[in-house]
Amino acid sequence: MAQRVLVTAGAAGIGKEIARTFAANGAAVCVCDINAQALDAAAKEIPGLKTIVCDISQRQDIERMVPAAVAALGGLDVLVNNAGIAGPTAPVEDTNPDQWEAVMTIDVIGTYHVTRLAIPHLKKSPAGSIIVMSSVGGRFGYPNRSAYCTAKMGLIGFAKTLSRELGQYNIRCNAIAPGAVGGERIERVLQGRADVEHKTLEEEREAAMSIQSLKRFVDPKDIAALILFLTSDAGKSISGQVLPIDNDAQTSS
Ligand SMILES: NC(=O)c1ccc[n+]([C@@H]2O[C@H](COP(=O)([O-])OP(=O)(O)OC[C@H]3O[C@@H](n4cnc5c(N)ncnc54)[C@H](O)[C@@H]3O)[C@@H](O)[C@H]2O)c1
Repeated sequence: MAQRVLVTAGAAGIGKEIARTFAANGAAVCVCDINAQALDAAAKEIPGLKTIVCDISQRQDIERMVPAAVAALGGLDVLVNNAGIAGPTAPVEDTNPDQWEAVMTIDVIGTYHVTRLAIPHLKKSPAGSIIVMSSVGGRFGYPNRSAYCTAKMGLIGFAKTLSRELGQYNIRCNAIAPGAVGGERIERVLQGRADVEHKTLEEEREAAMSIQSLKRFVDPKDIAALILFLTSDAGKSISGQVLPIDNDAQTSS
């Protein structure tokens, strides 16, 4: 039977690439996103894509979205918790508390609520699978990125816990930890770092590359392919893991 897949924040960026890849491989896919216009555009690009407007920072929105997605798909086999914002770039003492809390609300608490509501449906699947979107920032500390690193490290704990709780139902859970992905978002993150460190954008780009052995940004298609593999039958023995996909990034911290 075709996999039934829910991707959060899937109207653009990495999430859209994930949706496109699953759909191209015969899955039934539903994406939610805060941006209704972007959802409409994604639905025109990806044949058969189901879309639901949802703000992942709002619990009531999630409580409406998950049942609607399951109804649209006729069940649920794969949950891709992709939603996450990058948050502020500043030393801890200078961060805006509202911006810091927003990262926890969307990246951690939103992932918790979506997953909490999806589990009863995944239990009915013959082979349920959950992906949690961490980051290279969830494996290493980065100066001026406290909210993001805290959230993405927390999500690894969440993924490992889910794996231990849900294995008995043949539900697997893995976290993936992409490095810097090419696109608009990384440009914003690099510009934020440049502003705080009084450097140029080019200097920040070089600094980002200097910690990687492969000198390029990650292709979102490769992230989608990793998720497709992990959630397929070929990945059936892999659970509770954190899979880096980061062009071999290392930091000293
Ligand atoms: N881009 C990177 O370099 C990178 C690296 C590692 C991990 N990640 C993680 O991958 C995931 C996707 O990143 P991306 O770069 O594709 O993101 P992005 O900034 O391109 O945004 C993707 C989508 O999220 C939606 N969104 C924003 N706030 C939302 C909300 N409150 N509710 C619902 N949808 C919302 C946007 O409308 C957009 O369509 C995130 O969890 C991110 O932390 C990204």
